Amino acid sequence: MRQENIKVNNVVRATETTLPRENYVSSEIFELEHRNIFSKQWTYAGHISQIPKIGDYFLHSYAGESLIIVRESADTIRAHYNVCRHRGSQLTKSDSGTVKSFVCPYHQWSFALNGALRRAPMMPDKDCIDYEKLSLHPAAVEVWAGLIFVNLDPAPAESLLELVGPPSECVQKLQPENMKEIVRDLLRVQANWKTLLENYLECYHCAGSHPELGIAFDIQSSYGQTADWGGSCFIGGEPLRKGFRTVSMTGELVSKPLGLFAEEKELPAEVTDGMGLLPVLTRVIFHLDHAIIHTMNPISEREVEWTTRWYVRSDAVEGVDYNPDTVAEVWRATNAEDKELCERNYRGVLSRRFISGPLNPIAEGAVRPALNLIEKLLTY
Ligand code: FES
Ligand code: FE
Repeated sequence: MRQENIKVNNVVRATETTLPRENYVSSEIFELEHRNIFSKQWTYAGHISQIPKIGDYFLHSYAGESLIIVRESADTIRAHYNVCRHRGSQLTKSDSGTVKSFVCPYHQWSFALNGALRRAPMMPDKDCIDYEKLSLHPAAVEVWAGLIFVNLDPAPAESLLELVGPPSECVQKLQPENMKEIVRDLLRVQANWKTLLENYLECYHCAGSHPELGIAFDIQSSYGQTADWGGSCFIGGEPLRKGFRTVSMTGELVSKPLGLFAEEKELPAEVTDGMGLLPVLTRVIFHLDHAIIHTMNPISEREVEWTTRWYVRSDAVEGVDYNPDTVAEVWRATNAEDKELCERNYRGVLSRRFISGPLNPIAEGAVRPALNLIEKLLTY
């Protein structure tokens, strides 16, 4: 049973812990999480630059589902479950492309970009099946500052805009819609998704394990900032080390300034903004010259996928304005370190002797609020 941190003789007693072992190893709890959390939460899927033309699509994997994200018109993007309404075959052979319609490779039923069933060849007569009732299953999709978010629930309780609010003035000025993805790293982490989440939410481990992150970020002030992350979304960036203008090993810009900042004679000392969604983490971080988006994809109770994408302005030229390895350097190193930490942590959690000890009330202050949110969602 969880207890609040208590004050005894003005001393803060750390009494909060993580969850009981069961929550990290049980396939039944993972299934419940799928029903109550993964299937209802907004998460990041991709960027509008991936589907500029009508008929452009890409596949998005999340929580065991495959979604087709497709541009239906200049201002409409759809998300369909990649499941044929005949006998369930996946509809596409490639992960991305351009189509006029989706033709199932199995018996050639075809679906329009909006998901409507158009043709079911060789049926005995035209009224043999009810076309109206056989559209592709939809998922919810919303675009926020050029970033495409999806929700497996086609009618979510809250729209993304209601949840997060409109982009800040600073984000608008950065013009994220005019960015392009330059690097994507995908790590399979052998740990429960909550182990990875807990790790992301605390920087207690940073000084000992993240030399690169410690160079670029102001770790002390990140404690205070993450302490506010109690709900299902949060706003803001990651504070940089004093004198650093962006996330890089030197503090110098690693690409051209984003958006309208490129037109300014005098650049601000530091830009850091963004947003995040919880409990399945999507973390969007903007800096003056590039953006980073982390996402997690729970695979099973023992495995989670951690993806990081890096973006620069769309007209930046590789080799001239940026070097992808330099842009990705700090977080790529940090991700590799975190994978190792989480996998070692999880191997310990698998022990039947594991019981969580007290959390550091300051440096791990954001962990318990996120776990409270998970516990709350599981009881709905
Ligand atoms: Fe798609 Fe048969 S499963 S047409
Ligand atoms: Fe870390």
